[in-house]
Amino acid sequence: MDAAQALASLMSPEGRVDPYPAYEWLRAHGPVAAAGPGLYAVTGHAEADELLRDPRVQVLDDNLRDGVMPQWRDSPALASIARSMLRTNPPDHSRMRRLAAAAFTPRRIAGLRDVVTAQAAELIDTLAAAGRDGRPVDFMTHFAYPLPVGVICALLGVPAADRPLFRRWAADLTGVLEPELTPDELASADAGATELRRYFTELVAARRRRPADDLTTALVQAHDAGDRLSAEELLANLVILLVAGFETTTNLLGNGLAVLLAHPAAADALRRHPEHAPAYVDELLRYDSPVQLTTRTTAEAVRVGGVELPAGSWLLLLLGAANRDPRRHPDPDRFDPWRAAPSPLSFGAGPHYCLGAGLARLEAQVAFPLLLRRLPELVPAGTPRRRIRLTLRGYDNLPVTVGR
Ligand code: HEM
Repeated sequence: MDAAQALASLMSPEGRVDPYPAYEWLRAHGPVAAAGPGLYAVTGHAEADELLRDPRVQVLDDNLRDGVMPQWRDSPALASIARSMLRTNPPDHSRMRRLAAAAFTPRRIAGLRDVVTAQAAELIDTLAAAGRDGRPVDFMTHFAYPLPVGVICALLGVPAADRPLFRRWAADLTGVLEPELTPDELASADAGATELRRYFTELVAARRRRPADDLTTALVQAHDAGDRLSAEELLANLVILLVAGFETTTNLLGNGLAVLLAHPAAADALRRHPEHAPAYVDELLRYDSPVQLTTRTTAEAVRVGGVELPAGSWLLLLLGAANRDPRRHPDPDRFDPWRAAPSPLSFGAGPHYCLGAGLARLEAQVAFPLLLRRLPELVPAGTPRRRIRLTLRGYDNLPVTVGR
């Protein structure tokens, strides 16, 4: 199979549900494989890491975007993502990122441990009550979704009663992160973006009238203090913070629990030694990454892994494949929480390195040992349903029984 066929297979519904075979077909063409005109698929760990840190390698700017998808300005979803820090290059990127970064310092995140633990314990009680009579319950609905939503909403100052609103809107919006998008998927993403933007327009107005001690107020004040954040950027970044803050972490909790339940001896060791949670979580991130890919373009010619990438090349950086690069990790398809250094690329690298990595790790490090200890009879029940999504890999539904 040539690299273009391997890539087509990755983009197919089967490839989106299980991308790992297609990654190996691509890897057979080298760590940086030419997969179409000006298109390169990167499966090597060292190469993806190097490219993400290279200042000549950038996210698409407005000019390029006009060239490849001129309709982006009329799409609430594409325009909103384009105005956020996620898809902006320096100097705009550094300016926006700095404003939000104050909320995510290691000290601030460590200070959230008690809040996360209390929310996780409460959700475990609800999960146990829902499954008390031995009925299967959906782990995604009862735990993997509400925990990260509750935490990011508390940071942003979103009222608790509004939290159930976001699941559908965010799932629809994140369709725009897929490398290929059908017109129906774009229409859903636009509908989700419109709802989220309407919601945050109202929250911004409320915080402007009555400031509170939250991240929304901090960003509103940065906007009002001068030209540090435009009105459009304010809205785009609030939406991205909310969506990036839970869609991904929800998938880490779902993918991670499924792996732990499939490896009972490893789960049992974590139950007995919760202090090993950081190593487990990093290996879970490596083994089945909640974010499988990101994209970049080359502003100048770049040579990497022995391959010359001309200026204007499109790069598909396959983080989930890099995490299983056998040159980096011996026996990469094995889940092994005792691995010396899982070093997942799941949070990216370089200037766009995930702002919420510390928070996501904290949530998972608290949640898994607590779940295993409080629900020692937790087991899978029935067949889980994967989302047909490549970029944000997760489950729609993950049925479990919690014991009597
Ligand atoms: C960026 C993954 C959780 C906020 C990123 C990127 C990745 C990533 C791969 C870089 C994208 C790129 O380079 O194109 C993840 C994973 C998570 C997670 C796997 C959970 C397991 C969170 C959380 C937040 C968050 C909890 C909290 C608010 C962000 C933001 C960016 C980002 C704001 C953009 C940073 C920038 O462009 O400078 N994330 N993320 N993420 N993430 Fe996360």
